[in-house]
Amino acid sequence: MTKLEGIKACVFDAYGTLFDVHGPVSKLAAEIGPRADELSRLWRQKQLEYSWLRSLMGVHADFWKVTGDALDYALAACAIDDPGLKDELMVFYLKLEAYPDAAEALTAVRAKGKRTAILSNGSPSMLDSAVRAAGLEKLIEMVLSVEDVGIYKPSRRVYRHAQHKLGLADALSVCFVSANPWDAQGAAQFGFQSVRIDRAGLPDDRIPGKPAAMIKSLSELPALV
Ligand code: LAC
Repeated sequence: MTKLEGIKACVFDAYGTLFDVHGPVSKLAAEIGPRADELSRLWRQKQLEYSWLRSLMGVHADFWKVTGDALDYALAACAIDDPGLKDELMVFYLKLEAYPDAAEALTAVRAKGKRTAILSNGSPSMLDSAVRAAGLEKLIEMVLSVEDVGIYKPSRRVYRHAQHKLGLADALSVCFVSANPWDAQGAAQFGFQSVRIDRAGLPDDRIPGKPAAMIKSLSELPALV
């Protein structure tokens, strides 16, 4: 894999990249029953769709609201009528587990003198809670939320916000890391050196933007930067 040159900071997507979004449903899978996997997939898909739809409609709401709305939809679509389940799942969403490769990769990237940040759709309080629950707070210099911009990724304005907050004049000095293909591609299209983690064997989305590198796990990242 070709090393990325001139990287000063690694900026990470949160959900799906550092934190496992399917944890909440798996924890309650026995209680939810045979449609648990479908529920989790649909919840995630609708959460993303609603972020994009709201961005297009110009009607922003924060990611906590969008996540709750998406779960309402997914529960209805899977015909799961279990009072109390939504609240239980939402509480678990505040304490998502980090992927096992996250802490080590962040530590190694910092040991190489690179700055670290999160840039996520998540609201500041959701991100703060997840970062603390996973014990990553000492490994991440800045936690940046789209709430400061008022529109969701992959708007260029969001990636520009991260570059501005980091105070880096050259977008190419940012390595953006995401397991969401459309996010890795959006960041590449903006001008970051983007790395996609292919956790689930997904093809590229058919949208503009080509990541500079593709890796299977975050443990491959330190060697790249
Ligand atoms: C995030 C979503 C895209 O963390 O996973 O921004």
